[in-house]
Amino acid sequence: MVKVWIFLILHFLIISIPFSPVHSYTPKDPKSVEKWFDNLPVSKQKLTKLRFFYHDNVSGKNPSTVPVAQPNTSTFQSQTNFGQVEVIDGPLTVGPEPGSKIVGRAQGIYTFASLEEIGLLMSFNFVFTNGKFNGSTLSVLGHNPVFHKYREMPVVGGSGVFRLARGIATTRTVWFNATTVDAVAEYHVIVLHY
Ligand SMILES: *[C@@H]1O[C@H](CO)[C@@H](O)[C@H](O)[C@H]1NC(C)=O
Ligand SMILES: *[C@@H]1O[C@H](CO)[C@@H](O)[C@H](O)[C@H]1NC(C)=O
Ligand SMILES: *[C@@H]1O[C@H](CO)[C@@H](O)[C@H](O)[C@H]1NC(C)=O
Ligand SMILES: *[C@@H]1O[C@H](CO)[C@@H](O)[C@H](O)[C@H]1NC(C)=O
Repeated sequence: MVKVWIFLILHFLIISIPFSPVHSYTPKDPKSVEKWFDNLPVSKQKLTKLRFFYHDNVSGKNPSTVPVAQPNTSTFQSQTNFGQVEVIDGPLTVGPEPGSKIVGRAQGIYTFASLEEIGLLMSFNFVFTNGKFNGSTLSVLGHNPVFHKYREMPVVGGSGVFRLARGIATTRTVWFNATTVDAVAEYHVIVLHY
């Protein structure tokens, strides 16, 4: 019985802590950042795994992905949209369905950077707005050939609880409408940090 309770309590903590509404992080003064760095030799490295869904809302009245630049199509034409640049501020949600609980935003830029296939240069931040990671960010810079099953992008840094983070974001398209080009992608993010 005791074992069952311990299991249930642990299960509850593991499942609910990542996005539970406990803390939020606000940027600190440079002195306290310096102190944090001074502590590094005795700080323990942590491994954090996150899973959420990104909504690439291109169509509709409130798009969160907007084109901001493209080559002059009268002088340059491309099957792969080469040269087009999009700015994004897309919701990150707990589940794939529309209206699922929002835990953050993906904010930044993606550029159609491949002449050969639809291949995006992703440069954006995961900006978390909920629970333990509220106020913290992770920065992604990577290659995203969106029609491949899995894509793997480096997480090159972070802020807040994710200071000095590095890791990998693996993504997979779960839903894509070829007419509207709206999409939902699942992200698994695994990062080392302190
Ligand atoms: C696109 O290129 C054509 C041909 O050189 C030029 O006439 C036109 O002004 C260009 N359009 C833009 C928006 O630069
Ligand atoms: C994105 O699209 C989903 C599905 O249509 C919708 O539920 C959600 O509200 C949209 N978000 C934004 C910011 O437009
Ligand atoms: C996240 O943090 C901000 C700033 O501290 C706060 O205003 C907001 O209510 C927090 N959101 C949640 C869901 O805890
Ligand atoms: C894609 O979007 C179009 C336009 O909104 C809609 O008519 C169509 O049913 C959608 N297709 C799928 C597979 O959801």
